[in-house]
Amino acid sequence: MDKFLIQGGQKLEGEVRISGAKNAALPLLAATILADSPIRISNMPNLRDVNTLVKLIAGLGVAIEYAGDTVTADTSTLNNQFAPYDLVKTMRASILVLGPLVARYGEAKVSLPGGCAIGSRPVDQHLKALEALGAHIEVENGYVHAKVDGRLKGGEVIFDMVTVGGTENILMAATLADGVTTIRNAAREPEITDLANMLIKMGAKIEGLDTDTLVVTGVESLHGCDYAVVADRIETGSYLAAAAITGGRVRTTHTDPALLECVLDKFEEMGAEVTRGEDWIELDMQGKRPKAVSFRTLPHPDFPTDMQAQLMAVNAIGRGFATISETIFENRFMHVPELSRMGANIQVEGNDAVVTGVEKLSAAPVMATDLRASFSLVLAALAAEGETLIDRIYHIDRGYEHIEAKLQGIGAKIKRVSG
Ligand code: EPZ
Repeated sequence: MDKFLIQGGQKLEGEVRISGAKNAALPLLAATILADSPIRISNMPNLRDVNTLVKLIAGLGVAIEYAGDTVTADTSTLNNQFAPYDLVKTMRASILVLGPLVARYGEAKVSLPGGCAIGSRPVDQHLKALEALGAHIEVENGYVHAKVDGRLKGGEVIFDMVTVGGTENILMAATLADGVTTIRNAAREPEITDLANMLIKMGAKIEGLDTDTLVVTGVESLHGCDYAVVADRIETGSYLAAAAITGGRVRTTHTDPALLECVLDKFEEMGAEVTRGEDWIELDMQGKRPKAVSFRTLPHPDFPTDMQAQLMAVNAIGRGFATISETIFENRFMHVPELSRMGANIQVEGNDAVVTGVEKLSAAPVMATDLRASFSLVLAALAAEGETLIDRIYHIDRGYEHIEAKLQGIGAKIKRVSG
């Protein structure tokens, strides 16, 4: 099992090229099922999760190619609507093929995704939304079996809580429904807007982008198009955090400051100097120790849960103390015991964590537990005195393309060791 060996203590300086967003790439790939002619998606990040979904879509009989940073798909050979457990269990976003398959082919059998480390992550809202559009849903033996005679019917969908995947699933399904669908309490993450923009390029009629109410007027069919995945705002925030925690200066390119304004505001509250360009962001910590800052994770445009672990790591060496509230997932503090092994002072009470900053963290053998927690351990190791060994880094390969090369490019002493 691969590990990272990281020698901490260097101020990180330099430029990082940001990849396409994992959390946009996955719904965009699912949306290829809706196209009745070939579709090309570029700026696709080469990640484990992306490759898993490509494999799953190929298993439906779709002719799908992934070469360089571009995926091309042709659904004319699609010959089944079955997404098996062995693939879905490794990548829960596979549930996103459900809506497109039911909408276009009238039937789908998709494995229920298991929970994952950060929470049970049910899909009840996805199923309720599809039923509101006329799908008949049965759940048995760990599979969702969805069917509709003829087309889905436009209708009213009201989510009980903001759900990114639920919004994406029903948005895709509604594009081919007969009539108008209103989606209320919709998630407003930039990845949803990216999906909507591609669907519109494919011929879909969608209004209310970036708001919590999406109105979709169904059409008979959607055609292929050329599209590029939006920049990864979480990868951007993660590398800017590397500058903040080491007192360095990092410029992230091929990104967009508008995607993560709330995170940039927090970095400024920490005392960092943040410069925003058209398609780049620079964070200069000027050698200073950051001020610990409090925050609460909430749906976009507020502070993203996917940046919680990373900013907790920066707070761990911050001046003063801060309270972090995780309101989205029920178990997203698994990085805390690992950070504590490195000398962090963090008290957890339910979904709240109080971080009291310490001068220095110290190297220790630690273990990654989930994707973003892994990056928070990398950040802590970059700031810690000595050499840290991080185990189970397969988690990190799910969401960070070329991570060693990108970190080495800004001066980090990191190498991957196997065994
Ligand atoms: C997406 O997950 C992201 N994944 C997650 O990123 C991200 O943390 C999350 O949105 C929140 O922003 C992808 O886009 C592939 P949700 P998703 O449905 O869609 C509950 C990362 O690190 N819920 O918005 O699964 C759910 O349990 C990953 O890149 C229900 O109860 O998240 C959670 O508590 C981690 N029933 C909350 O809602 C449902 O039917 C938000 O989940 C659906 C969700």
